[in-house]
Amino acid sequence: MKILVVGGGGREHAIIKKIKENKEVTEIFALPGNGGMAQDATCVAIGAKDIENIVKFAVDNSIDYAVVAPDDPLVLGCVDALNEKGIPCFGPKANAAIIEGSKVFSKNLMKKYNIPTAQYEVFDDMEKALTYLDTAPIPTVIKADGLALGKGVIIANTREEAKDAVKSMMEDKVFGDSGNNVVIEEFLTGPEVSVLSFTDGKTVVPMVSSMDHKRALDNDEGLNTGGMGTVAPNPYYNDAVAKECMDKIFIPTMNAMNAEGRTFKGCLYFGLMLTPNGPKVIEYNCRFGDPETQVVLPLLDTDLLTIMQAVTNETLAELDVKFADKSACCVIMASNGYPKSYDKGFEMTIPAEISDNVYVAGAKLSDGKLLTDGGRVLGATAIADTLEDAIKASYNMVEQIKFDNAYYRKDIGKKALAAKEG
Ligand code: AMP
Ligand code: GLY
Repeated sequence: MKILVVGGGGREHAIIKKIKENKEVTEIFALPGNGGMAQDATCVAIGAKDIENIVKFAVDNSIDYAVVAPDDPLVLGCVDALNEKGIPCFGPKANAAIIEGSKVFSKNLMKKYNIPTAQYEVFDDMEKALTYLDTAPIPTVIKADGLALGKGVIIANTREEAKDAVKSMMEDKVFGDSGNNVVIEEFLTGPEVSVLSFTDGKTVVPMVSSMDHKRALDNDEGLNTGGMGTVAPNPYYNDAVAKECMDKIFIPTMNAMNAEGRTFKGCLYFGLMLTPNGPKVIEYNCRFGDPETQVVLPLLDTDLLTIMQAVTNETLAELDVKFADKSACCVIMASNGYPKSYDKGFEMTIPAEISDNVYVAGAKLSDGKLLTDGGRVLGATAIADTLEDAIKASYNMVEQIKFDNAYYRKDIGKKALAAKEG
């Protein structure tokens, strides 16, 4: 089987390594991929948003199955376009990917179907938003409606900050058209949990839970990033919480999308906050999370491609999806300066003994050398019987990986460990 994976980060590398385990797979193409995954896939320089050329490539190369991993192509209708040419895919169609593509859509969906989330108001008029902020409870959370590279959420601790955030989105258009509408919502508190799930529209199968570390610096300080590390499982997500989430959030969301004529097939990501009033949805993503995927998929015991095909064929209920009863930790090595500006082009060395568990996100090959080429450069994942050992082992890997200008957090998993012990 010839497989195509759209995307080029650490998440895609983790998906590719897992798909490679299936014996029927003969070739994997990554569009565009990156130089660090060249051993696992044939990288082709077609951008993840270039739907026309992705489809052309898939047809010309008789691709048997495609996985569309990032949000942009999903929201732009990459799955629809591939399906039109008869190519089966893993990932939602555009009319379902809107669950991530528009926060106004997802908030209204949750309200309509009584799915627990923060109270909110939607504004398409800046003056009205500013007037509302004169009396809104503070802190408050301002969200741009559309995709904003994970940066479209501002937590405002004062009215002034909140108003500045609204102005930057609606007047200065810092996120372009994504800021035409804004959501202003209630500030919630509690531990955060990421739950990725497989769903074919009939069944929803949650994967092992995980914990992201979004801030750039230790102790959750510094700017928000795409994610500086993850652990799985998330110790806050116990069986009782899992059951409550299944009954009040996961199944109702699947049913709500069906009722709206927007059946979601693919990986539906639930970003949850376990508030004093129960679990609430912070955000939905229409795709695997990054770097959650780098801890979740290594724990998956069932064949990934088989699951993906079952999602496509709507036969997920027939599978027994199993995860190892172990812990995983992924530490992201980034370029110093990320998420702001940073230098790149530094030679990287990844010892062969550990490379199976290294997921490369930002690298390129130049004259046979692997050079850093992005903010998040790679993730080093270790699996162990205990979380403590997984954390130690992933930091041990990080110490063996060398490139200039490297930066990583020193406290990935620390909070999870404390929660486990506490
Ligand atoms: P998002 O980009 O939607 O994942 O949001 C980024 C981060 O902002 C989340 O991981 C939360 O930590 C925080 N956040 C988003 N919405 C809220 C909320 N209503 N209350 C408190 N924190 C929030
Ligand atoms: N790690 C969060 C995300 O993928 O959006």
